[in-house]
Amino acid sequence: MNSPKRVEHLQTDKGNVPIYTTGVVEQPWQSYTETDHEVWQTLFKRQQAQLGSQACREFLDATEAMGMGADRIPKFSDLNAVLKDSTGWQIIGVEGLLPELDFFEHLANRRFPVTWWIRRPEQLDYLSEPDLFHDLYGHVPLLMNPVFADYMQAYGQGGLRAQGFGPEALAQLTRLYWYTVEFGLINTEQGLRIYGAGILSSKGECDYSLNSPAPNRIGFDLQRVMSTRYRIDTYQKTYFVIDSFQQLFEATFADFAPVYGQLTERAAVPAGEVLASDKVFTRGTGEGWLSGGDV
Ligand code: PHE
Ligand code: CO
Repeated sequence: MNSPKRVEHLQTDKGNVPIYTTGVVEQPWQSYTETDHEVWQTLFKRQQAQLGSQACREFLDATEAMGMGADRIPKFSDLNAVLKDSTGWQIIGVEGLLPELDFFEHLANRRFPVTWWIRRPEQLDYLSEPDLFHDLYGHVPLLMNPVFADYMQAYGQGGLRAQGFGPEALAQLTRLYWYTVEFGLINTEQGLRIYGAGILSSKGECDYSLNSPAPNRIGFDLQRVMSTRYRIDTYQKTYFVIDSFQQLFEATFADFAPVYGQLTERAAVPAGEVLASDKVFTRGTGEGWLSGGDV
């Protein structure tokens, strides 16, 4: 297949991060190889098989309603036709992770950037950066849910505003994204279910997040989440559980300006810590946790 347009690599506190061109690209659908389609098929079937009982209903229904199937890598234009009629979101093709400001700008305008290239067969289980499978399979279905769709747009608008409050505010906002959009769990009548894309696109973390005794599972609280550090290179030590997308939307509706100020004065909470004020669903055993390395 053709390769993504990388500009350079940048050493950050999260490791060596590839920098891509930021422009929007047309999905080069004709140039996907048989191998690319097979990677999609394998990953799609594998996740569908386990997620039936693990992902939240909204995600499962939306995947079906969008017409995502195992057969071929979906065409962005087909998905966009469906999205347009439901919540007005659109997906746009990009080369890879975007700088924060560009990312916020897209979300604020109901555009979700999707990496157009897919991982190679030897990377089925783990990849250190988002590819098409993560972005499309993990993130896009929930954009069909009206409340979640509004949350994502509000997040983008909040990100644009947060620029004016400095790097601490941005770090706090990024934690919110991490513990909801990427690694969120939701409490349902059938028990805990997954809605975070980082979990949904990972074979191992689905089972781990719901069933392993190792991690903490703690009720969502805005300020708690925004002050909790995280690691990007291992399964999470803590998952935060929402009651509903409505709860998430309402909790984030308030003006964050005073919240940023208050949180900046306090020390951040290590990823695996349980606080006296937490609503604990499960207290993790901590088994297998690496020490340190929280960002
Ligand atoms: N309410 C936030 C603000 O005032 C914006 C926001 C909404 C942030 C939803 C995250 C999620 O900045
Ligand atoms: Co993601």
